[in-house]
Amino acid sequence: MATTLWPTLEPPAPREFLPRHVAIIMDGNGRWASRRGLVRVRGHEAGVESVRDCVRYSGQTHLKALTLYAFSTENWKRPRTEVTYLMRLLKKYLIEERDELHANGVRLTSIGRVEELPKDVRECLEHVQEHTAGNRGLTLSLALNYGSQDEIRDAARALAGKVARGELSADEIDEAQVAAHLHTAGLPPVDLLIRTAGEQRISNFLLWQASGADFHVAQPCWPDFRRADLIEAMLAYAGRRKGAALAGPREPA
Ligand code: FPP
Repeated sequence: MATTLWPTLEPPAPREFLPRHVAIIMDGNGRWASRRGLVRVRGHEAGVESVRDCVRYSGQTHLKALTLYAFSTENWKRPRTEVTYLMRLLKKYLIEERDELHANGVRLTSIGRVEELPKDVRECLEHVQEHTAGNRGLTLSLALNYGSQDEIRDAARALAGKVARGELSADEIDEAQVAAHLHTAGLPPVDLLIRTAGEQRISNFLLWQASGADFHVAQPCWPDFRRADLIEAMLAYAGRRKGAALAGPREPA
């Protein structure tokens, strides 16, 4: 099957005012489905189309990084059938999108304890990651079995181990050292964190990486969220950056 090459699009604002790294908490799949009298998993299924549209738009406008919260460590508590369905959807997405992502220069990465995912999903994920590892366009990062506190604790343990082995002194642990031990090492910090379905919680997502990010609450449930909603969030971000640039440096207090 021929793969679609995405035509390049002009970014919605001058690049200097736009975020380089957007992260999205995709929320409201269940609500979207129940409002339509459908079972929850239909919401997840419909949400894949939103993933596709946002990934394409991000690639087309040369966004540096897009990180999607696809499965949290808390999500294991959902009914087993829902977890199984989510894993199946993820695998299907990876299989179906591999060639298109690759052809358009997308590098797929993941954050979270992916080693705890079902073997077939993990293998599929590793395969697409290896396949696209050399790409230099958008970095699409899927947060899977992800929890930010777990990630920060693991980084602290790794750094403590280096100190104990004499490879690092405690004084050398600065922000850059911590960042280098997170799953997102090498990615720019998150500039814009979006959550859909009107929710205002951070839900243990990228607590370190998004410490300086703008938070944008989008009203649509994730299956209704499309590039127009992403553009709205980016324009609001750009407007604030432009305003700050025009205001010039702040006077000392
Ligand atoms: C939150 O909605 C959404 C999720 C827990 C899963 C997100 C997964 C997808 C969009 C599909 C697969 C992902 C990829 C990357 C292909 P919710 O179920 O918590 O909604 P609710 O709060 O309305 O119940």
